[in-house]
Amino acid sequence: MRIELPKYAERFGAVLLHDVQKVYELDGGYWPDEALSNPFHVIRHIEAEKLHQIEKDLAIIIPTKNERLRLLEGVLSGLPHDCLPIVLSNSDTEAIDRFRLECQTVENFCCYAKKKYLIMHQRSEALADLVKNGGYTKLLDEHGLVRNGKAEGMIAGVMLAQLMGKKYVGFVDADNYFPGSVFEYVRIFSAGLSQSSSSHAMVRIQWHSKPKIEGEGLFFAKWGRVSRISNLLLNRLISQYTGFETDVVKTGNAGEHAMSMELALQMDYSAGFSIETHHFVNLMERFGGVNVLPEDVPAMQQGVYLYQIESRNPHLHDAKEDGHVEEMIHQSLSVIYHSPLCTEVVKSEILGELRRLNILKKHELPKAPVKYGSLQFFDFDKTARIWDPVKYGNTQLV
Ligand code: GDP
Ligand code: CO
Repeated sequence: MRIELPKYAERFGAVLLHDVQKVYELDGGYWPDEALSNPFHVIRHIEAEKLHQIEKDLAIIIPTKNERLRLLEGVLSGLPHDCLPIVLSNSDTEAIDRFRLECQTVENFCCYAKKKYLIMHQRSEALADLVKNGGYTKLLDEHGLVRNGKAEGMIAGVMLAQLMGKKYVGFVDADNYFPGSVFEYVRIFSAGLSQSSSSHAMVRIQWHSKPKIEGEGLFFAKWGRVSRISNLLLNRLISQYTGFETDVVKTGNAGEHAMSMELALQMDYSAGFSIETHHFVNLMERFGGVNVLPEDVPAMQQGVYLYQIESRNPHLHDAKEDGHVEEMIHQSLSVIYHSPLCTEVVKSEILGELRRLNILKKHELPKAPVKYGSLQFFDFDKTARIWDPVKYGNTQLV
């Protein structure tokens, strides 16, 4: 793969936020390229071997809830062979047992492809047992099962990836229509992660575009309503501390992202639609140097690197009803609002924005988000003693 070098990076304490990098060539050629040894080049060639090295250690977590089986199978077919898919499903199990159908689809696919995989139901006793053993009870509800929600599925996925000994985790939605774009996203994850000299790194995808039907033809939208607002306010927050206006954040709502396992285990998470925006807020809270926790010092000394990379493929996913846009804006802005880092100026801008959009009434304040603490406090040694992927995970380890 050949990608552009980032033009600049904004520093926030130990966090280095790189500007968006473009993909130049999806396949950068097998052989090393002499031309790129010139110090004035602007393109980085990431050799195939380096990409495959990372993919061997990369788990791709696929959260899914009642998606079409064809789409799920398409997503699997787009993953580079060496990655381990971890399907975390919250699909219906009553009447039509959609989860059973998903298991069959994944098993068939991986049997033909001779591919390892893991699939678990978010509301299964088996998954709850693993979480309980690790002492991470905040993730469990009053029935003792893992809570509903995409964020909760993602956190459980990180736990499984760690139990499987993976060094990196990436997230890809199950409702993607183009296997080719899934392939590109994962290649971008490995290319992005390969650039980091720190063991704490995150890569976020900026979609090239999201095609929509408008009138007679297609319109390729660049920014969604939610990402426009959350990027703006994240940038405002950074500017308040640095004193310089910035537009460095362009992926404040990117669902497709990847992290080194060290970073995934250290970060705190928030529930619901706010999880993506919270990643930025939490990087700034934990590693920004404003309030330093002793356990964060080693990572801060190495630096925490964030890369944003623009894909070439458009993003086309299943069209869900539009009703949740307001809720997504509310949740995304509320994690910024309720962060201890949020300044009075940014708070009043958030209130102004939410009131202008009629999401909040005059005297209402944003709802405080539900948070899950870092998986550093998860007792993996204890859970590893009962962990058996074949027994628990409905897995095929070829
Ligand atoms: P959008 O793309 O941000 O509009 O959100 P989607 O509704 O497409 O959800 C993103 C992904 O998360 C899809 O693959 C969904 O099937 C999946 N998903 C949604 N809710 C849940 C949940 O409660 N648990 C799990 N495991 N996955 C979910
Ligand atoms: Co979607």
